[in-house]
Parts: sequence; C-alpha cells; structure tokens
Amino acid sequence: MSHEPLQPTIRLEPELVAPETYVIHQVQQGLGEPLYVHLNSMLIRGRDPVIVDTGTIANRRQWLDDVFGLIDPADVRYVFISHDDIDHTGNLAEVMTLCPKATLVASWAIVERHTNAFDFPLARTMWLNDGEHLDVADRRLTAACPPVWDSPTTRGLFDNLTGVYWAADAFATPVTAELEPTAASLDADLWRNGMIMFAYNALSPWLKMVEPGLFADHCDRVKRLGMTTIASAHSPTITSESIDGAFEAVRQLPLVDAPPMPGQDVLDHIIAATAAVPA
Ligand SMILES: [Fe+2]
Ligand SMILES: [Fe+2]
Repeated sequence: MSHEPLQPTIRLEPELVAPETYVIHQVQQGLGEPLYVHLNSMLIRGRDPVIVDTGTIANRRQWLDDVFGLIDPADVRYVFISHDDIDHTGNLAEVMTLCPKATLVASWAIVERHTNAFDFPLARTMWLNDGEHLDVADRRLTAACPPVWDSPTTRGLFDNLTGVYWAADAFATPVTAELEPTAASLDADLWRNGMIMFAYNALSPWLKMVEPGLFADHCDRVKRLGMTTIASAHSPTITSESIDGAFEAVRQLPLVDAPPMPGQDVLDHIIAATAAVPA
C-alpha cells in the first residue's frame, strides 16, 4: 500500500477571471460522493507578478506546468500564502526555489505554525496582516480575512485594480460531474447546502457559537471591499451576479442547523463501495 497522494485525473485549464489574473484549477472527486471539489490557486501576472497560494503536492507536475506556462519563474515578484494548510502550500518550496526574485508574503502566525514542514527563507519573507496593504508596481493588494476560515492564519487578498478577491477557503462548495464553470451555474440548493456542509464540517465548526449579528457585521465588512469577482480555493468562480447570494448564504450560517458530520457508518459504506469496484 502506498500512502502517496493520488494524482488528479481531471484536467481544467487555467481560467482567466480578470485582466492578467488566472485561477489555476485542480479538481478531485469528493470522498464517497458523486461530487467534486476544487483545489484552486491563483496567479496575478501584472507588472509585479504574484502567485496566490501554491496548490497541492498531488497535483505538483500539472500545477507547475500551468503556472509556469503563464509566467517565467524569473519574473515572479511575490508569493502570497493565504494560510498554512497543505492544499495551499503544497508547492511552496518548489516555487521559492524556482523563483529567485520572489518575496514570500506570509505572517508571523504562518511561519510559527508551519516551521515543522517548511524552512522559511526569512530574509526573503515579509509579513502582511489582516487589513494591511501590499503596493506592487501596478496595483494595491489588501489582505482581508474572509468570512469563514479553517486556520487562524488566514487572510484573503483583494486586488484593488481588478476587483478580484481571493477568498482562500471561504465559499467552499462541491460541484457536480458537470464541473459547473461558475457558482451561477450551480443548482441553487446544491450551492447553498454545499456551502453549509463545508463551512460547518470542514472549515468553521465554531459558527454555532458566534453571535449572528457580529458575524453578519464581519461578512459585511468583507463585502464592502467592493469585489466584482470572488476566486475561492474550493469553489467555481463567483462572478458579480452571484456575489450578493454568496454573502447572504454565508451571513446566515450561524442561524442554520449544522448538518451531521459523516461517521463510521459512512466510512463503512465508502470502503464497501470501493471494494466492489473492480481494479
Ligand atoms: Fe484551509
Ligand atoms: Fe483549502
């Protein structure tokens, strides 16, 4: 038995979501479900190119081909890491080696929590906290904590030039085998229930403990950034027509019933179903 991660078998080309701004896609099948999950990252090419999160180990070869098919590694100036989860930092070492002029945009908390897995080049690192700006050659980038998160280190990134907001894990939802290209093309119930399921059981189980009004204020603060597109690591692109609906669904999270966490009975079903599939 190998414990190596399985390489993705689904291929989605990088997606232009705004001028010089690409979502780098990865999709994998959900565990035990006929549903699929995105594991995206982003590239802002611009005059000072910025890589936003670095994909997964499982998708390393394709991710490197995708990103460096769009940008010469020698031209990358910044590598922004939204938080210290392995699906966002999977190719961080490779990127920092391949991109000698890149500065790593992290935070004290990311460095403190992630040193067990990565030897941070501190002389090439800067720390950018929630609310702070990174002014690059042609645009201002603002670190902004998304509505929900699964690591206390999380900051999203708002591009004040294009209006694209990188939401890290927020707005996570499964998609169907159709691989709907935008949130607008998802079935409305699947989208809403998918966001609830992921938010409660995979990201932010503390939602039931928060005061709904304070949480709504936080959501509204994020929305007031004025984004016109949301790129999320675990969602198809949320275009302008879906932004109000996305925020409204997330604002309601403390008020909805938390869905049950899959238990041993579900795992037994997955094992039985997997064993029934001929090799
Ligand atoms: Fe995460
Ligand atoms: Fe994630």
